[in-house]
Amino acid sequence: VTLAAGVVLSGFAAPQVSAEGESETSYWTREQAEKIEQNEDNTLPYTDVSELEKFAEGYHVWDSWPLTDRDGEIARIKGYQVLFALTAPDDVLPGKVHDIARIRYFYSKNGKDWEMGGTLFPDGASLGSREWAGSAIMDDGKIHAFYTATGRRGEEASTFEQRLAMATGDITADKNGVHFDNWGEHKITLEPDGEYYQTKEQAQNGEGGGYAFRDPQWFKDPKTDKEYILFEGNSGGAVDERTFKKEFAGSDEYLAENPVPEGAVHANANIGIAEVIDGDPSNLKMMPPLLEANYVNEELERPHIIVKDKQYYLFTDTHVNKYAEGISGPEGLYGFVSDTLIGGYEPLNESGLVLANPEENPYQAYSWLVLPSLNVVGFAHFGDIGDLSIGDLGNQPADYQFEKFGGTLAPTAKISINDDTTEFVKQYEQGWIK
Ligand code: FRU
Repeated sequence: VTLAAGVVLSGFAAPQVSAEGESETSYWTREQAEKIEQNEDNTLPYTDVSELEKFAEGYHVWDSWPLTDRDGEIARIKGYQVLFALTAPDDVLPGKVHDIARIRYFYSKNGKDWEMGGTLFPDGASLGSREWAGSAIMDDGKIHAFYTATGRRGEEASTFEQRLAMATGDITADKNGVHFDNWGEHKITLEPDGEYYQTKEQAQNGEGGGYAFRDPQWFKDPKTDKEYILFEGNSGGAVDERTFKKEFAGSDEYLAENPVPEGAVHANANIGIAEVIDGDPSNLKMMPPLLEANYVNEELERPHIIVKDKQYYLFTDTHVNKYAEGISGPEGLYGFVSDTLIGGYEPLNESGLVLANPEENPYQAYSWLVLPSLNVVGFAHFGDIGDLSIGDLGNQPADYQFEKFGGTLAPTAKISINDDTTEFVKQYEQGWIK
């Protein structure tokens, strides 16, 4: 069906069509994902995680992101770089960390030796019952801090509701480090609409599948200077409202030989995008998803874009256990490339796989973020964390039984990009931000 620009079918997230007639939402198809294969170009070296340094004394540390300027370049204030990370005291069981996560910040002059500065926001200020991942930009002495408000402050039992939130404060630096204060009101900037993006209620109706509406990531398009927030979502509609489209699988030839198992309907991850209106980072206009992995994967985390050689490289992370029935892939960093910001994304390396953990240590690292330098930061798990169902941040109860989580920053990896292929190049020291 060809839809006129701007036409939205109610009850189902129908991708809009751009002025050029191109569908705005790209698909990661089963045909593409079936090509996932680990090889020396995408597999990280084995790291003996017991030899890694603990990044923050007394804390588990997992998702991290550097302070950038509006253009996405690493920012400096009086010579300091700033890194934000999700943290939790390290005396709790691993699955618990997501229930008590706080954003803490670290500062460094060389991007290697980090001092912990404390929590980003004062106690009780943020809008969720805990703070999940986001991003942060510095502009004219101010910081705009984007985060996921998960649950509601004051709720009795933790819920998994996720909303995009932000606050603006002052950033200063002196010989004692970097400081944040004078925070304005915390605002919810985006919530799922149920059409493009699945609501928590839809996820719970029937057997659901994943639920995510999180990880707001700032992006400024260097070609147009327009600004956006990318985020992790799921395609709209409860499981029994979803309609299979053959484009989710791939070509007719592929589909004829590879019927899609019924259970694959539970996988409906997408990568969301919203436009920043009038330069005001708290004023967002929801757009159709950039990419959907319906019937392929149910969790595309921490999406972010790097522009190189006039091409848009869209990266995301996913877990082993998030693939749809009949498809498999490692804990890894995945990516897609297009000539345009909206539409036309094709998987890098044909399958999408960019970096994977070594087969002998499949849960070695996670939550990779590609920086403009093509350095990739992530976190490492200490010890054996078993089946990573802590990734089940949707409607399933978290499993708190894992003996070890102990996140610290992973060795920074370097990748190279050549048009639509990537290669792992080398590994540097832990948590090196450049
Ligand atoms: C990735 C992630 C993020 C989320 C955070 C919660 O590791 O699942 O998507 O914001 O962890 O702890």
